[in-house]
Amino acid sequence: MPSVLPEGEAAPPDGSLPDHARAEVAGQPLSIYLHVPFCTTRCGYCDFNTYTASELGPQPGASRLGYADTAIAELDLAVRVLGDQAPPVSTIFVGGGTPTLLPPDDLGQLVAAAHDRFGLASDVEVTTESNPESIDAAGLVRLRERGFNRISFGMQSAVPHVLATLDRVHSPGRPQQAVAEAKAAGFTSTSLDLIYGTPGESLADWETSLDAAVAAEPDHLSAYALIVEDGTKLAGRIRRGELAMTDDDDLADKYLLAEQKLTAAGYSAYEVSNWSRSTETRCRHNLAYWRGQTWWGVGPGAHSHVGGVRWWNVKHPAAYAARIDAGASPAYARELLSEADRRVERVLLELRLADGLDLAVLTGTERRRIPDLVARGSAVLTDDRLVLTLTGRLLADGVVRDLLD
Ligand SMILES: C[S@@+](CC[C@H](N)C(=O)[O-])C[C@H]1O[C@@H](n2cnc3c(N)ncnc32)[C@H](O)[C@@H]1O
Ligand code: SF4
Repeated sequence: MPSVLPEGEAAPPDGSLPDHARAEVAGQPLSIYLHVPFCTTRCGYCDFNTYTASELGPQPGASRLGYADTAIAELDLAVRVLGDQAPPVSTIFVGGGTPTLLPPDDLGQLVAAAHDRFGLASDVEVTTESNPESIDAAGLVRLRERGFNRISFGMQSAVPHVLATLDRVHSPGRPQQAVAEAKAAGFTSTSLDLIYGTPGESLADWETSLDAAVAAEPDHLSAYALIVEDGTKLAGRIRRGELAMTDDDDLADKYLLAEQKLTAAGYSAYEVSNWSRSTETRCRHNLAYWRGQTWWGVGPGAHSHVGGVRWWNVKHPAAYAARIDAGASPAYARELLSEADRRVERVLLELRLADGLDLAVLTGTERRRIPDLVARGSAVLTDDRLVLTLTGRLLADGVVRDLLD
């Protein structure tokens, strides 16, 4: 089962926000995240808030069937809370779980509901994640017709034994074929997710996966180091000694290989784990998170952020539906970020971006640490911004620790 939620302070039952947070709504782009908490099977490494049909059982409110209506009712709450000053939506991201387990028309209904309630910016980015096994060419055409223009497929690896360790079910070549089908359907941006550092994956295996991903010519690629999450089947196998944990040197070699291969193929890293073929095909939704803008997360376990207030919804789909049906906010708890918290987050997130961090965000003592970071080859200064080098990207969290007061 997915991991537990943080505690935080009580969230008001009507979802209301302090005035200082509402005051920031008009001046920031608005993003909407829609969580779809359903998967056919659970991959052994995954602790996302998602449930198989057998995990959910016949509980009221937990079915896929009524999910779109429940999620739309949370959009109504968002309209009440954000008020008239909310701008048209800049980005929508449907994630999961496996969003494409819902019929394309249900996903389209969610986009239409956001349109009706907030309006959509003329250049709105509308993404869905997809397990490539859960969609076909006709479904992709339907999604495109219903307003989606970006799609991100979970590929993870092209190597059968690696996929088997991850408990991933893929017919050979399906993720690459899905990219071709999405392009034919008219998606303006396609993306593939890869994972490196699976136990038993060699450098040659990783190279095979990178080559296969690049050959599909997506506009965008994400490559994540495998996180062994407590409580997953994979963690259990490692604990019992059935699989060996990947060491940091191996992860570093694989990151460097990704950078080398992807750069050679015309991609450039705009965030530590994300590469894009052009500025236009960067994921604007993720950039909104990394830049601390406004986003409303709809669905069980979804997180939101408005003007320094962060809240997260109850996790279970049945508990979530019960709150919504009762006309209450589904928020489980919230956190009011101080100016100091927000500054630290900015450093943490913006330093991971290729555009770097505005030096004005740093204190005097922090700025005095920069020459040392530069001398060590971890960062460079460009136009009053601190930008990580490739060495710095390998050690991004450590660089942030060394920099901050
Ligand atoms: C929520 S999944 C969405 C895609 C879809 N559910 C699928 O798996 O095909 C988003 C991405 O997170 C990454 N991910 C999930 N669990 C991870 C883990 N434990 N370590 C590293 N990356 C992970 C995978 O690359 C996955 O494609
Ligand atoms: S399909 Fe995606 S969300 Fe579902 S269990 Fe696998 S990795 Fe997790």
